[in-house]
Amino acid sequence: MATAHQKLPASGPRREALREKGQFWTPQWVAEAMVAYVLGTESDHLFDPAVGAGAFFTAAKNLCKRVSRNVSLVGTEIDSLALNQATNTGLTREDLRGVELRDFVLNAPNRQFSAIVANPPYIRHHRISAETKGELRLLTRQIIGKTLDGRTGYHVFFFMRALERLSAHGRLAFIMPADTCEGVFARSLWGWVLNTYRMDAVVTFAHTATPFPSVDTNAKIFMISAESPETTCKWCRCGEEGPALLDWVEKGFPETSCPALVARSRDVAEGLETGLSRPPQERHVGPVLGDFARTVRGIATGSNEFFFLTAAEAAARNLPLSFFVRAVGRTRDVEGDEITVRHLDELDGRGRPTYLLSLDSTPEEDLPDSVQRYLREGADACLPNGPLIKQRKPWYKMEKRQPPPYLFAYLGRRNARFIRNRANVVPLTGFLCVYPREIEEEESVWRLLNHPDTIANLSKVGKSYGSGAIKVEPRALERVPLSEHALSSAGISGLRRNKQCGLFF
Ligand SMILES: C[S@@+](CC[C@H](N)C(=O)[O-])C[C@H]1O[C@@H](n2cnc3c(N)ncnc32)[C@H](O)[C@@H]1O
Repeated sequence: MATAHQKLPASGPRREALREKGQFWTPQWVAEAMVAYVLGTESDHLFDPAVGAGAFFTAAKNLCKRVSRNVSLVGTEIDSLALNQATNTGLTREDLRGVELRDFVLNAPNRQFSAIVANPPYIRHHRISAETKGELRLLTRQIIGKTLDGRTGYHVFFFMRALERLSAHGRLAFIMPADTCEGVFARSLWGWVLNTYRMDAVVTFAHTATPFPSVDTNAKIFMISAESPETTCKWCRCGEEGPALLDWVEKGFPETSCPALVARSRDVAEGLETGLSRPPQERHVGPVLGDFARTVRGIATGSNEFFFLTAAEAAARNLPLSFFVRAVGRTRDVEGDEITVRHLDELDGRGRPTYLLSLDSTPEEDLPDSVQRYLREGADACLPNGPLIKQRKPWYKMEKRQPPPYLFAYLGRRNARFIRNRANVVPLTGFLCVYPREIEEEESVWRLLNHPDTIANLSKVGKSYGSGAIKVEPRALERVPLSEHALSSAGISGLRRNKQCGLFF
């Protein structure tokens, strides 16, 4: 039985509640393919550590009915309300008898499973409490022998815990966001996974077939078995929602190329390095953008509404402009490839904020009365408890950036571009800051950035989003390959190139 897509509240407290618990349901066409893989062995059970509304149980019932097979459904779930939803989607109380209400990560059932399937809660690190982070650190050390970067999201711990609970020759299928392969923790995580288990297949989705259309994520399915590791795996890109994915899994991952699905073999290590959402690529040897420029993300304020104002809003509260820096927030606030002070003033005149309240750690009582009053307004609105802001001391201390010579508008519908900063502005998170490594090379770096080859190569390192947008993270931008042509049109000399890239010397 196919269930309709989950109807998601676009914003507000109901959307926020979903984010806190990571409650986004898997569509049936995806769930069935994942379940078909894990039940491809003789397992007498199916374990889902994050049952939610029971998408995988429903899929298992449908598949097993087709082949008259009996499989017991077992699982864990932390939220009884989510399980109530399961009964509304066609599962019976009897189907859910094997589900325990418990925390799978920190209090996992004391047994091994031979078929594990999950869409783990995607909870970003800043929503995890310091206490839980401490427990997760200990757990990680137990499982993989070292800890992971503090910015690791909850889904990664789910994944590790589930692999630890996978019995010999068992199978596991997890659907997770692209950052699972790209975050700072990725090297340590995947080093352990690929040395311990066999990656059988990775499924990626074109934006026309994204499993979670209203969520800004780039989902991938990892199909892994508890067998000796191998260096290649099957890789596919699903171009259409529908039965092709299940068919591909049931037929044992054949090579194919049709609009619904493109599949081939792939070197696992290359895939992780390239970013598994992109097709296999030749390894680039040669200069990359990071040899000539350093990139840093724009400022994350934690609350643009509070910290990012127009001149009129600042004046209405008597806030001295000397406590502000000029900033630009939205990529669509800069239309061309240049930003000037006149441009900022025009934005301000149209009611778009361009003044960022950029306080340091000066104690509140030493600030002017008007600023103190404004901070009290923020405190009354509970801003200091916001997920990002609560990590700062004091809560109103703003991140600092040197105004970069260039900005990079990194999330746009085929519209990623570099912008020349003639206004000494600092950007918020809609942009990356680009700093040439050598000041005297600013002009050449500008030509390099805007060369058509460089722009075309962005797609080699960017993540494509469900909406068709492309996103290039700071580290990824530094990996953009530079063509010979781009380097010579930018006038970057062979000597300098070689010195910079450590070639030939
Ligand atoms: C992304 S949903 C997936 C639900 C369902 N399996 C599906 O694929 O549609 C993740 C579920 O994990 C639950 N969850 C969050 N943290 C958990 C934990 N520590 N232990 C068990 N379940 C948890 C959430 O309540 C949510 O229902």
